[in-house]
Amino acid sequence: MKPLIAGNWKMNGLCGSVREIEKLIGLFDGAAPDDVEVLVCPPATLVGLFATEFSDEGVGVGGQDCHQNASGAHTGDISAEMLADAGAAYVIVGHSERRADHRETDAEVQAKAGAARRAGLVPIICVGETESERKAGRELEIVGAQLAGSIPADAEEFVIAYEPVWAIGTGLTPTLDDIAAMHDFIRAKTRKDIRILYGGSVKPGNAREILSVQNVNGALVGGASLKAEDFAAIVKAAL
Ligand code: 13P
Repeated sequence: MKPLIAGNWKMNGLCGSVREIEKLIGLFDGAAPDDVEVLVCPPATLVGLFATEFSDEGVGVGGQDCHQNASGAHTGDISAEMLADAGAAYVIVGHSERRADHRETDAEVQAKAGAARRAGLVPIICVGETESERKAGRELEIVGAQLAGSIPADAEEFVIAYEPVWAIGTGLTPTLDDIAAMHDFIRAKTRKDIRILYGGSVKPGNAREILSVQNVNGALVGGASLKAEDFAAIVKAAL
């Protein structure tokens, strides 16, 4: 399975950020390595620009969220069809920041993932427990319920991103044994042929060991994906 290294830029980036991707491609000597799939998920305002500029250089583009409907009276929302039209190949759905900030439920995440498939995008469905849930030893129960509720029944192509909420932007990561236990669990609950990404404080310094854990098929990278040098180092750690 080819590893997928995806950068989630969150609410960061302006048109000038094209230069950061140009720098990234320069660090790859002109094109991303063939043995790793490299994806950047910038804010929606940059999806079309990045797709136009970088589709030939092996850097794919994805959205960070989509509405479940294809079009309609939903001010401020963006559909999966619009992302596909702008050149996206993937869309992140159910990120914990959306689950928290916008109270997105598993059912909504499932509908968004279904919308992504309808539009020909691959959904990256995010799951992960909070700190208090892990302290209570409930992480498998929580993630199991999120998987059961968030994956469309008929989705043949999707990616799961395991992102423990307490590891996002904190510099904390689970132990490698804990990552292995969760990824084995997700594998058992899903399918043999899907990619399961780890996300949460992935940095150049820990990427290689995390990516070497069984059933870790790539990473979803937040803060470190904003700097070309750091993101390139994480991509190279997957080789
Ligand atoms: P950080 O890599 O900044 O911890 O963010 C992880 C994340 O939320 C990616 O979706």
